[in-house]
Amino acid sequence: MANDTARRPWWQTGVVYQIYPRSFADGDGDGVGDLEGIRRRLDHVARLGVDAIWLSPIFPSPMADFGYDVADYCDVAPLFGTLAAFDRLVAEAHASGLRVLLDFVPNHTSDQHPWFRAARRARTDPKRDWYVWRDPRPDGGPPNNWVAAFGSGVPAWTLDEQTGQYYLHSFLPGQPDLDWRNPAVVAAMHDVLRFWLDRGVDGFRIDVVHALGKDPLLPDDPPPVAGLPHACLNEHPSTHDLLRALRRLADGYAGGRVLLGEVFLLFSDTHPTYARPDELHLVFELPAAVTVPWEAPAWRQRIASVTERFAAVGAWPTWVLSNHDMPRHRSRFGSEARARAAAVLALTLRGTPVLYAGEELGLEDAVVPRERTVDPGGRDGCRAPIPWTPAPDHGWPGVEPWLPWPPDPGDRSVATLEADPRSILHLYRRLLALRRRRAALHRGGLTLRPSPDRVVAYDRDDGASRITVLVNFADEPTDCEASGRILVASDGADEGRAYTGRLGPAQAIVIERE
Ligand code: NOJ
Repeated sequence: MANDTARRPWWQTGVVYQIYPRSFADGDGDGVGDLEGIRRRLDHVARLGVDAIWLSPIFPSPMADFGYDVADYCDVAPLFGTLAAFDRLVAEAHASGLRVLLDFVPNHTSDQHPWFRAARRARTDPKRDWYVWRDPRPDGGPPNNWVAAFGSGVPAWTLDEQTGQYYLHSFLPGQPDLDWRNPAVVAAMHDVLRFWLDRGVDGFRIDVVHALGKDPLLPDDPPPVAGLPHACLNEHPSTHDLLRALRRLADGYAGGRVLLGEVFLLFSDTHPTYARPDELHLVFELPAAVTVPWEAPAWRQRIASVTERFAAVGAWPTWVLSNHDMPRHRSRFGSEARARAAAVLALTLRGTPVLYAGEELGLEDAVVPRERTVDPGGRDGCRAPIPWTPAPDHGWPGVEPWLPWPPDPGDRSVATLEADPRSILHLYRRLLALRRRRAALHRGGLTLRPSPDRVVAYDRDDGASRITVLVNFADEPTDCEASGRILVASDGADEGRAYTGRLGPAQAIVIERE
């Protein structure tokens, strides 16, 4: 069995941990997190027991979308550090057994990127067709009805007065879309990936990857969905060819480099097709996070559908509960007990879990007063800084952090939770350690078990390793049949003892069957 496990790529058996660099840890006291801050806190991540960190964008950027507007793909924003600081971080992460994934933002650049600055200079500029330009409609309006992702109903087109044409931006006007039909764009972006892979980076999370291939005719979005952000609707077969080329590039490097795609489509469940064996290694399972409430039937259905849909195309699933774009699941689900039970789900389902820094502390979203709002997409709450110590500065010496603290930063600080063996932080550590020890959890199959309506129950088996997971979605005790020894309980109760047949309120347990 050990050999079998060794044959599985790390990105199937491992766990990824997302770091939002602005909010993780501040090394220079300017109130914004940075690479040096991350380096100093690597021990926290390594002790947690994850396998890789994914850093949201660290590249030079005007920060209109906090780094998802890249002005130079091959450097580090001075706010975050230097290439040397990055190399040091990678070396120390590797020495601690952590891989490092960067955030690749291929759909659009910043309008401050030299490519776009050149492109907008003249219609004849050699960089012009690196972006998507179109003449105005006869009435002077935008070329089609596509809507941008931020701001309600704002066109995805901005008129460049000087050259008299519109350029496409699926997000902010400061984020012009690249034209991936242009081979020069493809070649330049492949060079970007090589730049970082040559530096020892272990892979990339890829931003809005489903938007790369666009219908060359740029047809209007049809009436039922017109007015919704085009970025959440765009699907074109050409994307899959682009992804095959990226996969060949990544697999040309030794050491299991990985491509993890963000596919966020509002009305289609096709995201697994982007992780077919010759495309991306992984795609996020975002619908579970975005659309599934804290209700057992909804989760049962989603688990069944994920299992089936990913298997149908030969893709390996992922699980994610929170990230920098949506309210944290502790806030969505409404209590710490539920957040703990959700952690048991995320870390015991079949697939690669992607955690969001701070969920191991049970953080809620910050309440951000209007005068401190900074994000055009209204996502400040889930991006609040991580509290490291109880007081007075929570481990952020210097000026006040760029966003307000999440609720109870003292009680929720890493140091406080570290000192309490019953804390959610220790639950995450126990779950991650168990997941590593038991083949059934990191590679076994998954079978849903019959259970009371308000419980989700499944078996994870792999040879001699036989695990059952029970999650009680009710905030009151629920009887649920199963037998075995409790390995981990979301509230820490009765670990090591035989399961009695009754789950506590919002309790989740991992049992080893006899
Ligand atoms: C998805 C990213 O996660 C989000 O933060 C960003 O605003 C958009 N893509 C645009 O890059």
